[in-house]
Amino acid sequence: MKTKVLVIGANGQLGSVLTKALQKKYTLENVIASDLRTDEDFKGIFEVIDATDKKRIKQVIEKYKITQIYHLAAILSAKGEELPLITWDINMKTWLNVLEVSRESNIEKVFFPSSIAVFGAGVPLTDTPQTTYLNPATVYGMSKAAGENWAQYYFDQYGLDVRSIRYPGVIGYQSLPGGGTTDYAVDIFHKAVLEEDFSCFLEKDTSLPMIYMDDVIRATIELMEAPKECIQIRTSYNIAGVSFTPNEIVAEIRNFYPNFKVSYDPDFRQDIAAGWPSSIDDSIATEHWGWKSKYNLEQITQTMLAELKEYYRLKLAM
Ligand code: SER
Repeated sequence: MKTKVLVIGANGQLGSVLTKALQKKYTLENVIASDLRTDEDFKGIFEVIDATDKKRIKQVIEKYKITQIYHLAAILSAKGEELPLITWDINMKTWLNVLEVSRESNIEKVFFPSSIAVFGAGVPLTDTPQTTYLNPATVYGMSKAAGENWAQYYFDQYGLDVRSIRYPGVIGYQSLPGGGTTDYAVDIFHKAVLEEDFSCFLEKDTSLPMIYMDDVIRATIELMEAPKECIQIRTSYNIAGVSFTPNEIVAEIRNFYPNFKVSYDPDFRQDIAAGWPSSIDDSIATEHWGWKSKYNLEQITQTMLAELKEYYRLKLAM
């Protein structure tokens, strides 16, 4: 059967970049992007979908004879704490809708993004193992942990081929994150390039697992392409990129911008970060489907600064 991909949440930080990668892989006509609103600059096929509306998802599946779904829509950790009940409703309803329409429409493969936010109290925070307690302390983390269990349930009960990764904080120059606890690690590069001061909402020695956009896109596509028998975990796979503290990223940036000024003003997001792992053990993903990250902090810093410098140069020239 011809692969026809539906991306839900295609305007987001990850969705926008993943959609382009999928278009490159499967061609423009075989990738259907969707989100709550159209993006004027978008090239390709786009359908407006509110994923809390199951009928609407189904309409689009039938219209394009969709075979794979990437469900990327969610409210992230920090925003989620401001709107706890709405976050639970949206994150769970959209995911259950996707699972249910996938079952009804015999979708071949479904991708679900989980997060390092599933971990919490009682877990080793250094090299957090694949299998351990999930005691999330945020509503976002609770929705992802429950989502992982639902993925396992649909696999066990209905044989639905659901695959999932626990994403670290994602760093890329192409798009901005919104409402997450790891967002500082993207914002900081924009401020450096614009030669503005940066105020950090985390303490300077709080280490979090992060990953570069190219690595995360590759991980997602490699997982989805792996032979079915390799996928022995149907909740979600740990993957690691690189772990660093604000202090460490500032030191790297100062190699290029020695006068870059940073102040620390920790807020509620510091409490969220303090409960999350500082590094992740991803050896099971390596063993099962060959995962290996490529980008270290030095390479991330160089690429982010170079790409953003070019982006702002072109923007100012317009
Ligand atoms: N980047 C996400 C957040 O900070 C974690 O999955 O909420």
